[in-house]
Amino acid sequence: MFADRVVSGMRPTGSLHLGHYHGALKNWVRLQAEYPCLFFVADWHALTTHYAEPGEIENNVWEMVIDWLASGVDPSQSVLFLQSRVLEHAELHTLLSMVTPLGWLERVPTYKDQQERLSDRDLSTYGFLGYPLLQAADVLIYRAKFVPVGEDQVPHVELMREIARRFNHLYGREPGFEDKAKEAVRKLGSRKARVYMDLRTRFQEQGHDEALEAAHALLDEQQNLSKLDRERLFGYLEGGGRVILPEPEVLLTEASRLPGLDGQKMSKSYSNAIGLREAPEQVTRKIRTMPTDPARVKRTDPGDPDKCPVWQFHQVYSDLPTREWVQQGCRSAGIGCLECKQPVIDRVLLEQRPMFERAQRYIDDPTLVRSIIADGCDKARDLARETMREVRAAMGLDYS
Ligand code: TRP
Ligand code: SF4
Repeated sequence: MFADRVVSGMRPTGSLHLGHYHGALKNWVRLQAEYPCLFFVADWHALTTHYAEPGEIENNVWEMVIDWLASGVDPSQSVLFLQSRVLEHAELHTLLSMVTPLGWLERVPTYKDQQERLSDRDLSTYGFLGYPLLQAADVLIYRAKFVPVGEDQVPHVELMREIARRFNHLYGREPGFEDKAKEAVRKLGSRKARVYMDLRTRFQEQGHDEALEAAHALLDEQQNLSKLDRERLFGYLEGGGRVILPEPEVLLTEASRLPGLDGQKMSKSYSNAIGLREAPEQVTRKIRTMPTDPARVKRTDPGDPDKCPVWQFHQVYSDLPTREWVQQGCRSAGIGCLECKQPVIDRVLLEQRPMFERAQRYIDDPTLVRSIIADGCDKARDLARETMREVRAAMGLDYS
C-alpha cells in the first residue's frame, strides 16, 4: 500500500556468523535492490531477555552493524537505524497495548518456548510478554508490506496482522464511512471507478484473492489520491473501515540454511559457528577439524554424506560437479575427508574476502558507522512520525 516497504530487525548479538549471513543478510542484500528497505537494530528487544546486562549492548550494536555493512547491506539503498533512537516505536507499542488481549500474547509459541529454553533467566516480566507486540509496532509504524524473517518468527508476523486488523476495525470506522468511501471511488474517474467496483464485488461475493490484488495494484498506481481516501478505498474493498495500519506479510527467507560445524543450528552459544569476519587461518582450522560421518573411521572406510555436516556445507557452497565428486568419492572411499573439505574451505574464504574489504573502512573510521546510523534514524523517524500523527488522531489524541 505504501511503496511496498520492507522492514526487518535483528537483536544485537555482537559479531555475526555465516549462519546469519545465509539465513538473513544475503536476503536483505537482495531485497534492498528491489524494495525500499528499513533494517534496524532491535536493541530494546535485546533488553527483554538481557535486561540485567546493559553494558553489552553498545559494543554488540556497532559490531553487528559493521557486519551488516560487510555483508553488502548498502546504506545508500537501505535505511539502517537503531530502534531505541526512534521513540515513536515505544509510543505505538503503548497505544497498541491498549487493544491487545493478553491471551494473544500468552499463546504466541515463542513465549513459553523461550521461557523454558532460557530458564536461567527470569522472564516473567511484562517486557518479555510484550516482545511480539513491540515487534508489531516496529513493523506497523512503517506500514510495511513485507517482513523478511525466518520460520521461527512467523507467529510474530501473524500477530502483527491480527493487531493491525483489530486496530483498523476499532479506529478506521469513521462516521459516514460509506459515503466518504463512495466519494473517493468517484475521484478515481469513471473508468477506474468501474474497474474498482467490479473487483470489489468479485472479492466480496466470490472471495477472489486475485481481484483483491488487482484492486490493490490499481490503487497503488493512483497518484492523485489523498492519504485518507487511499485508506478508505483499501478498507472499502474488504468491507471494513479505513486501513490505517496495513497488514504486513511474511517474506520467508528461502532455505539455504547453513548449519553449524557439528550439523546443529549454527550459534555462538553452541561453539559451532564461523564468524562472518573470522581470520582465514582459524576458518581453515575449524573446517579441517569439523566432524564427519562417524562411521568413516579409516581413510578406506566408505562414508555417507547424508550423515556428515561437511556435506551440508557443500550443499550451500559447491556447484553440481563438486557435489557429485563428493557423493561418489565419499561413498567409494575414493577421497579423504580433508580432501573433501578443501573446496568448502576455498569457497568460504572466497565469500569472506569482500566482507573483510567492505568492513575495513568502518573499522578504520568508526565515525562513518555512527553517521550512517544517525542518518538512518532521521529518515526512519520521519516515516514513523507520519504514521503516528494518524494513529493519534484515530485514537482521539490529537486534541489541543
Ligand atoms: N524478533 C526478531 C528476531 O529475533 C527481531 C525483530 C525485532 C524483528 N523486531 C522486528 C524482525 C521487526 C522483523 C521485524 O529475529
Ligand atoms: Fe563427509 Fe566428505 Fe568425509 Fe564423506 S568424504 S564423510 S562427505 S567429509
